[in-house]
Amino acid sequence: MRRPMVAGNWKMHGTRASVAELIKGLRQLALAPGVDVAVFPPCLYISQVIEGLAGKSMAVGAQNCAIEPFQGALTGEIAASQLQDAGCSLVLVGHSERRMLLGENDGAVARKFAAAQSCGLTPVLCVGETQAQREAGKTLEVVGRQLDGVIESLGVGVFARAIIAYEPVWAIGTGLTASPAEAQTVHAAVRAQLAAENADVARGVRILYGGSVKAASAAELFSMQDIDGGLVGGASLNADEFGAICRAAGN
Ligand code: PGA
Repeated sequence: MRRPMVAGNWKMHGTRASVAELIKGLRQLALAPGVDVAVFPPCLYISQVIEGLAGKSMAVGAQNCAIEPFQGALTGEIAASQLQDAGCSLVLVGHSERRMLLGENDGAVARKFAAAQSCGLTPVLCVGETQAQREAGKTLEVVGRQLDGVIESLGVGVFARAIIAYEPVWAIGTGLTASPAEAQTVHAAVRAQLAAENADVARGVRILYGGSVKAASAAELFSMQDIDGGLVGGASLNADEFGAICRAAGN
């Protein structure tokens, strides 16, 4: 059985004061023991969050890491080894906002994925199609290619120590959510693609759904066979809403 996970991607939100408030709310949540919970604050606040959540069983991750695993001359970037040193255990790679706005391509994403693993971090590989790609019937092709970007350079075995997040771009921050059946189709295709090379890896890997997940939509999404939890953006900035989503994953 795969253990469900709910991950909160805070994106570029927060101030020291609002982060302190959110930590307070998160500390008060009663969490289901069977669900892994993680939050991904902006890098500046990672230490504040790790200290604030001490003793609470919530993992902390970063939203990005450098293509090089170790510290060096790479202005403005943060190495996976530094994230690990700060106490992170996870890192998002290939979020669509970075792919689209910052031009991150599959090659860079694969390097970040490898950098994360080489420092003992678990990468959360984000994949997903745009509205136009969906309308053109290219969803599975696009997602398959993004997944292949990692498989071809690193091999399928790396997914034994990774998480995948399917996030249709048209559903991110828009209030639109893929229907549970639509999402399940993509999740099953992702798992089948991995299974074609390694059935054990495919069975074990957690595939999260992301894109306007709310407490109201979470339970139905998480009830689908290949949806192992959620990557939650906007709703993760509200501790009560985030807690309700975490509970939905435990039922
Ligand atoms: P959203 O973001 O829940 O605000 O749509 C999800 C994400 O981008 O990870």
